[in-house]
Amino acid sequence: MKQDVRILLLGEPKVGKTSLIMSLVGEEFPEEVPPRAEEITIPADVTPEKVPTHIVDYSGNMANVVCVVYDVTNEDTIDKVVRYRTSMCYIRVPIILVGNKSDLRCGSSMETILPIMNQFSEIETCVECSAKNLKNISELFYYAQKAVLHPTAPLYDPEDKQ
Ligand code: GTP
Ligand code: MG
Repeated sequence: MKQDVRILLLGEPKVGKTSLIMSLVGEEFPEEVPPRAEEITIPADVTPEKVPTHIVDYSGNMANVVCVVYDVTNEDTIDKVVRYRTSMCYIRVPIILVGNKSDLRCGSSMETILPIMNQFSEIETCVECSAKNLKNISELFYYAQKAVLHPTAPLYDPEDKQ
């Protein structure tokens, strides 16, 4: 069986993300649009590829800081951080890199994470923590709050880096 398809619509405010979803569902252009559409699920039998499809709307109100979480014991999840960051540049919010499962590793993942931090100015900070032994959990949420209330990094502007 094929995996469900999950579609996230990203883009600048007011480009029409919610309208696109509502037009699809309602088969007509909505004159009034909420900031965000409810997540919708399209049953497999009415999709061309016969897979259940979920559509998730993003709204500028959804988040003003994003924590991208990786597993400090799994290099692969660190590499993927770059990919998440690439989609985040459409959201333009500060990013916090969160290395979880620090209880499973001695030493730190900073060596691997530093080049990524240096490459992308919108990454505010990084923190290693452990959900298991509750290490740095409150710090993580404190950093996230701080990134919103007192941002230091200029947010990514695609125009800047061409
Ligand atoms: P945020 O939730 O604020 O990020 O915006 P959004 O991307 O969801 O945009 P939304 O669907 O709220 O649409 C923004 C405005 O553009 C609304 O006034 C819509 O009616 C209008 N709009 C959306 N799609 C179209 C379109 O295809 N044509 C026209 N003319 N207007 C559109
Ligand atoms: Mg919207």
